[in-house]
Amino acid sequence: MSVRLGVNIDHVATLRQARATRDPEPIAAALLAQNAGAHGITVHLRGDRRHIQDRDVRLLREIISVPLNVECAASAETLETLIPMRPDWVTLVPETREELTTQGGLDAVFLQAHLKTIIRELRSSDIRVSLFIDPVPDQVTMANRLEADAVEFNTGVYSDLPRTADPRPELERIAKASRLASKLGLRALAGHGLNLQNVQPIAAIPEIAELNIGHSIVGRAVLVGFDRAVREMLEAMAEARS
Ligand code: PXP
Repeated sequence: MSVRLGVNIDHVATLRQARATRDPEPIAAALLAQNAGAHGITVHLRGDRRHIQDRDVRLLREIISVPLNVECAASAETLETLIPMRPDWVTLVPETREELTTQGGLDAVFLQAHLKTIIRELRSSDIRVSLFIDPVPDQVTMANRLEADAVEFNTGVYSDLPRTADPRPELERIAKASRLASKLGLRALAGHGLNLQNVQPIAAIPEIAELNIGHSIVGRAVLVGFDRAVREMLEAMAEARS
């Protein structure tokens, strides 16, 4: 089965917020991604609202036809805003104000009591829940115990490896965690720092159902257009499985 692509459009909103104007419109980017074959749209509704705004989530919910995945911190405040917007998926991520982007996975073991309440609340609102975690067996087992529907493995360590480093140990760690997730009945996703150069070994892991990719697609779209940037990524991912 081919691996699905969720396109993260946060950086379209980053560009818009740089001038606090209307352009570029993230909803337009989502529609272009959808038309190019993206299987889902992802946005991160950050506590500081530095890029995606509440109105973006509301409009996406109304307009796109592929599943909408909203990443957010496991905070009561954000969830209170988000739950009435009814995204298909919520991905819980760690969040600090100082970071440029999400740094490292959520520690589901440490946060288990807190996450349990939040996951229950989301699931009882018919919203499926994914936890962004590092590819560590204890974290996968805890996600399963907490009744998450999916886990998204942080590929940040793999993506940040220097060119001269051997990627195999980190790839094996991600593959092993994906096999465990799949054995437990959790959907396995992956993402962070993936681009046309490094995506294929991750896309080739058979248990991984979907990749979430943002920065490299939006960056490439600035140069070649959104449609082509999404199609190129889909082609690279499909080639890795053929
Ligand atoms: N997955 C999660 C949980 C993220 O926080 C991000 C970044 O917003 C991504 C995937 C996409 O990462 P990138 O923008 O590096 O492709």
